[in-house]
Amino acid sequence: MEHIYGVIGDPIAHSMSPAIHNDAFGAENIEARYHHFHVLSENLPDAIKGLKAVGVSGFNVTVPHKMAIIPLLDEVDDLARAIGAVNTVIYKNGRHIGYNTDGEGFYLSLVDRLGTELTSKKTLIIGAGGAARAIYFTLVKEGVSNVDIANRTLARAEMLIADCPYPKQSSALTISEAEQSLGEYDLIIQTTSSGMSPDTNAMPLDGKHLRQNAFVSDVIYNPLETKLLIQAKANGAEIQNGVDMLVNQAALAFQLWTGIMPDTQRMKEIVLNKLG
Ligand code: ATR
Repeated sequence: MEHIYGVIGDPIAHSMSPAIHNDAFGAENIEARYHHFHVLSENLPDAIKGLKAVGVSGFNVTVPHKMAIIPLLDEVDDLARAIGAVNTVIYKNGRHIGYNTDGEGFYLSLVDRLGTELTSKKTLIIGAGGAARAIYFTLVKEGVSNVDIANRTLARAEMLIADCPYPKQSSALTISEAEQSLGEYDLIIQTTSSGMSPDTNAMPLDGKHLRQNAFVSDVIYNPLETKLLIQAKANGAEIQNGVDMLVNQAALAFQLWTGIMPDTQRMKEIVLNKLG
């Protein structure tokens, strides 16, 4: 029997997930199809019931449903519950179980580049929204405990630190404090939408005080190099764009559904092709 998977969101037409997952199902000889489902917020409860009623085997959840879906699920994994957002659901024994692979996907991307030395890095996260929350909680859970957070609205950074249930040593910084102390950090993670297409001239902060051997990771993948990454590279820093996180969160969802870790290089090629 062919299994059905999918992604729910609004808007959803431009999601890259169907292309990534359908290719992976083919490559792994798994009889399955992945579809995109346009679900408006007002229809979310009915959509979840419907996905269960017709026996859809698993699905991804994207904007604007990642938080709203939580009370509609039968079970939610501890990390996803702490983050307060679900991006992947498994349907098993008549129950919907929710996970969050965004933070773990990002963590995998860092491990690929930095190895296990990652845990000792002095880290700065820029931003305190949903993406920052998934990344911050996951890094701290994985043992990267020395993580500060800088945000345009300082109170949101303070709240994020207070909400994190794992042991950490973290301070909240204003953007100007972060700009001044940028040279203290080994690892800088940019999680805001500042610099995203079409506003590619924007930067969440000035990186002129970046350390030469710093590692700068930006969750934005369009453009492939944000203004901040271009500046970091010119300063001699190592850089990473958001494609790796996008691919790894998809790969971890695929693994949750099938038990198989797909070929992430293949997934990356599909994403890069789509981005042109
Ligand atoms: P997401 O779920 O994508 O993280 P979000 O929850 O709306 O989106 O959070 C957006 C983040 O980007 C916040 O940290 C926001 O800063 P504020 O908390 O001060 O609003 C940050 N952000 C958005 N646009 C920005 C800009 N132009 N400059 C700096 N920070 C920006």
